[in-house]
Amino acid sequence: MNYSDFYQRSVDDPNGFWADEARRIHWQEPFSRVLDYSKPPFTRWFVGGKTNLCYNAVDRWTGSQGDKPALIAISTETGSEKTYTFAELHAEVNRAAAMMQSLAVGKGDRVLIYMPMIAEAVFAMLACARIGAIHSVVFGGFASNSLASRIEDATPKLVVSADAGSRGGKVVAYKPLLDEAIRMAQHKPDHVLLVDRGLAAMERVPGRDVDYAELREKHADAQVPVTWLESNESSYILYTSGTTGKPKGVQRDVGGYAVALAASMDYIFGGKAGETYFCTSDIGWVVGHSYIVYGPLIAGMATVLYEGLPIRPDAGIWWSIVEKYKVSRMFSAPTAVRVLKKQPPEFMKKHDLSSLKTLYLAGEPLDESTSEWISSALDVPVIDNYWQTETGWPILSIARGVDDRPARLGSPGVPMYGYKVKILNEGTGKTCGANEKGVVVIEGPLPPGCMQTVYGDDRRFLDTYWSNFADQQAYSTFDWGIRDADGYYFILGRTDDVINVAGHRLGTREIEESISSHPNVSEVAVVGIEDKLKGQVAVAFAVLKNAQAATTAEERRTLEGEIMAVVDRRLGALGRPARIYFVTLLPKTRSGKLLRRAIQAICEGRDPGDLPTIEDPSALHQIEGALKS
Ligand code: PRX
Repeated sequence: MNYSDFYQRSVDDPNGFWADEARRIHWQEPFSRVLDYSKPPFTRWFVGGKTNLCYNAVDRWTGSQGDKPALIAISTETGSEKTYTFAELHAEVNRAAAMMQSLAVGKGDRVLIYMPMIAEAVFAMLACARIGAIHSVVFGGFASNSLASRIEDATPKLVVSADAGSRGGKVVAYKPLLDEAIRMAQHKPDHVLLVDRGLAAMERVPGRDVDYAELREKHADAQVPVTWLESNESSYILYTSGTTGKPKGVQRDVGGYAVALAASMDYIFGGKAGETYFCTSDIGWVVGHSYIVYGPLIAGMATVLYEGLPIRPDAGIWWSIVEKYKVSRMFSAPTAVRVLKKQPPEFMKKHDLSSLKTLYLAGEPLDESTSEWISSALDVPVIDNYWQTETGWPILSIARGVDDRPARLGSPGVPMYGYKVKILNEGTGKTCGANEKGVVVIEGPLPPGCMQTVYGDDRRFLDTYWSNFADQQAYSTFDWGIRDADGYYFILGRTDDVINVAGHRLGTREIEESISSHPNVSEVAVVGIEDKLKGQVAVAFAVLKNAQAATTAEERRTLEGEIMAVVDRRLGALGRPARIYFVTLLPKTRSGKLLRRAIQAICEGRDPGDLPTIEDPSALHQIEGALKS
């Protein structure tokens, strides 16, 4: 069968197609219906079937692969390296599950995981899955405000955290940020379970804070039975940025996600049980959820969990991991490759990379030179894949397991099976012709694995994603794109105020809100501008309450530093703008809407075009002037 037929069947006969794919996982009880689309766009997959993500990722492999590696946890920050076999992973997950139960966590309860890239983070995720608790992993680089808004929304009974993370040898204490976040949030978790890595001193709150190692001792021999969940019950919530300052809780199911990942591991990622998978993302992002934790383990592969930089102790570190653990499939982001490209090539040449078959890159546009450089340096094919937190697995790529069409530079590929992708004209809602720019949308029903709803807010799910075009219900990706005459798609950036810094998705509103909390800032506009290394960086234009405080260059620099520190503390260093410029006026429409695209154009040296609705054109000159200052 060629890919076109394969794809066509997936969209013409989703019931038959996905019923076949569902055989890839263990069902404790069979489903009675493959797809329930009676309340579009809400989609229910494998209705009535009972399964469990932890069982499929761990227990299922303890027989045939019990003594084979499952989790390889490497930290070049602390110099530790430990391999857990499937049997050992099973034991640790059972302990963690028993620990959670002893803290009164049960099915449906939320557990917030704010952890560095250490094995206990994976144990905690799988333990939640085992007992039917809903995890919400918050990226360790986020700070107190981001954390507080997630605590508030997810109302977790338990938070699992650690004393600190470490980045480039610099310890980042987590506990004070967490304590501040809990103080800020109205909701209070009953307990905080803390891994003490001995990196930073911690103050403990008596009665609330519990030591991981101590509690683990008490449950050393625990055997916790799997809680079987109906396929459409929730597995996790993962917050992601949108247009407003309030992140959306992407809610995922159990059965659909397991099936989607199992199928993608075969068709797209070519993973084989017993081989090793190395995904360099972070468990705080969707790529980490799907392709560090659940995907590889569900496929019976060993997965590498790496804490550290790609260039420390030197630029050969990733390749030494590939050599040592015979990694067959690797998944990373273009930014990381661009970082490596600046390093001498010897680091790569030193290692035997013959085990590596393919490199997958995702998260941001992959430029030709980056793609060509890494592909020839490694002498393996590079496969771009385009998707979102919302979808959980690739929307566009080339499914090498079933498709032998050549890749086309600059294009992530073609729609993956199950996705009815279209490009619609933003104004008319009509389908665009070949090479005509429009919004990338997906027609319902979304395939298994995609978001069920916004946690606790069905209305927001409908309004945000499904109501952008009159007369038709289509899921908007908020990405611009084109489709060429041969069916390859190209992604041309976001249609909304989301920016992509080094493959990390951030909302400009969130950054603006944290900058506004500085006492001298009255108004601010943040835009993402092109950056050679990171794809995009944020820059801010702030109007001050007291402009006198920033008259000299030195005063401006000091204030800029102060504001950056506020962003670090509230949002996390990731959201810190590369520059903060001071102006007395921001370009707005007469109705007061910020003209972000015009600001962005000026920053990138483009013509902002005609702006008939602008209130005061001199605001644009101020932006130009500030950039020259
Ligand atoms: O704008 C697209 C960009 O990243 C967004 C999704 O980010 P996130 O929710 O963090 O999920 C990342 C999952 C890989 C998209 O809306 N994006 C993602 N992959 C690509 C991409 N842009 C271009 N090419 C890609 N391969």
